[in-house]
Amino acid sequence: MNFTKKLSNLDRRNFLILIPPLSILIFISISFFSPSTNPFSSFAPIRSFLLGRSNSILNNNVSSTATATIFLPMRNETVEIRRRSRTRMKKDELLRSRIAVCLVGGARRFELTGPSIVENILKQYPNSDLFLHSPLDKNAFKFSLLKTAPKLASVRIFEPKPIPETETEARVLTAHNSPNGIQGLLQYFNLVEGCLTLIQNYQNQQNFTYDWIIRTRVDGYWNGPLHPKNFIPGHYTVPPGSSYGGLNDRFGLGDLNTSVIALSRLSLIPKLDSAGLHQLNSETSFKAQLTTQRVPFLTKRLPFCVVSDRKYDFPPVGFSVPVAALSSRGPLSGAKCRPCTAACRGGCVAEVMGRLYKGWSWTEWGNGTLELCNASEEWEKGWEKVFDGVVGEKFGGERKRVEGLSLKNCVDDFEVMINRTVVWEAPLPEKICRMGLKAH
Ligand SMILES: *[C@@H]1O[C@H](CO)[C@@H](O)[C@H](O)[C@H]1NC(C)=O
Ligand SMILES: *[C@@H]1O[C@H](CO)[C@@H](O)[C@H](O)[C@H]1NC(C)=O
Ligand SMILES: *[C@@H]1O[C@H](CO)[C@@H](O)[C@H](O)[C@H]1NC(C)=O
Ligand SMILES: *[C@@H]1O[C@H](CO)[C@@H](O)[C@H](O)[C@H]1NC(C)=O
Ligand SMILES: *[C@@H]1O[C@H](CO)[C@@H](O)[C@H](O)[C@H]1NC(C)=O
Ligand SMILES: *[C@@H]1O[C@H](CO)[C@@H](O)[C@H](O)[C@H]1NC(C)=O
Ligand SMILES: *[C@@H]1O[C@H](CO)[C@@H](O)[C@H](O)[C@H]1NC(C)=O
Repeated sequence: MNFTKKLSNLDRRNFLILIPPLSILIFISISFFSPSTNPFSSFAPIRSFLLGRSNSILNNNVSSTATATIFLPMRNETVEIRRRSRTRMKKDELLRSRIAVCLVGGARRFELTGPSIVENILKQYPNSDLFLHSPLDKNAFKFSLLKTAPKLASVRIFEPKPIPETETEARVLTAHNSPNGIQGLLQYFNLVEGCLTLIQNYQNQQNFTYDWIIRTRVDGYWNGPLHPKNFIPGHYTVPPGSSYGGLNDRFGLGDLNTSVIALSRLSLIPKLDSAGLHQLNSETSFKAQLTTQRVPFLTKRLPFCVVSDRKYDFPPVGFSVPVAALSSRGPLSGAKCRPCTAACRGGCVAEVMGRLYKGWSWTEWGNGTLELCNASEEWEKGWEKVFDGVVGEKFGGERKRVEGLSLKNCVDDFEVMINRTVVWEAPLPEKICRMGLKAH
């Protein structure tokens, strides 16, 4: 009989219950849609009170990530602190894990790139073991600067020989866009897979397995540290851009399982053949390796560029290669670079990059991250000064030291390095040093 009264009582109760959440909702929408003009900026206590409450209510039925997103505009500092603390935890975890750093390639400009690799990769993860796989040439003496690397596991410097090409390889690979044809690709693949072999031999010898393998190039100049966020279990991380129709293969990071597949560049060629894949360049075969073996990959921008002595037309158009100024803010994700006085900045970069085919040599350029060189000629006169000005005293000093290295100091440095290396497979220091330095 008193049904309506009951109902209205119920309504009133419900209404009372609804008041606090409603006020919070209004509060949230105000703060969410006007992050810069925070209406509560002078009411810090109210803010924290409301936030504390709304947080506990929301936590009951909104996932914690959603909560973080909603409060991002106002809980800036808190979010930032949490992000930093997550990074620190991740870093601590990485510092406790086993990491192999695989460094491959020729030492041509290692006096410029080496110190940045030591600083931004090896010293960031001082628990990591270094594996160097490189051909012997007149620049190999520059590897003596690695005597300062935190941990040296295995060094192999070998006399390069032609690699016989199989029919399968001739079918699967293309010489197109490779400066030294299919042989050039095979030499490069051999460097990479040879590094994996060094790592696997070392694992067997030492009776453990690595959690992570970082593959990077001798000619990479790093202008920032390798961040913990790039270590993603079960995925292979590569940089975006410079993908030449496939995947950028200038850097890669993954756990042991994904890395074994990513680094098996020669031995997986028959698998690509049986998958019916032909005429691949380095990048497309790299991508095919991962997709046919079902390794998920993702791209993350990384703070390095590949220092190159090659000349490229300027301005680049379509499928041609842009050359970044080494002074670019970055991250350059492995784009080609050289030390130069930038020929193109701001609007010019937007114009030039807009004319490049995106799936090829193109790289991310927004927000003033990229400046371009006119790389149509040799490195400019006085590039040393340009370089030193960009990298600062420490790396500049190392450049000068290596350039002025005497035969005796080179041999002495290698002796120190050999002493610190577990597996050393290279010609005698005397021989390596003599190839690049005259006795004096
Ligand atoms: C909140 O909603 C989700 C579905 O979106 C549900 O699974 C969960 O049980 C709810 N939590 C509470 C505390 O009601
Ligand atoms: C909020 O964070 C962004 C990016 O982290 C930053 O640019 C902005 O200045 C911050 N705002 C306040 C009020 O701290
Ligand atoms: C390696 O590990 C195996 C199994 O745990 C053990 O039997 C062997 O003795 C170890 N060898 C070395 C050199 O530590
Ligand atoms: C790696 O691969 C092996 C065998 O293929 C598998 O047993 C193991 O679970 C994998 N490990 C990870 C971390 O995925
Ligand atoms: C430029 O900066 C904005 C704001 O920090 C960011 O959201 C955007 O992704 C950046 N773009 C590029 C291409 O880096
Ligand atoms: C690039 O440099 C070359 C050689 O210094 C010069 O001849 C050419 O005009 C330059 N190109 C542009 C677009 O500035
Ligand atoms: C190499 O190590 C040994 C023993 O640890 C030491 O006596 C020797 O001086 C070292 N040589 C060099 C060149 O560092």
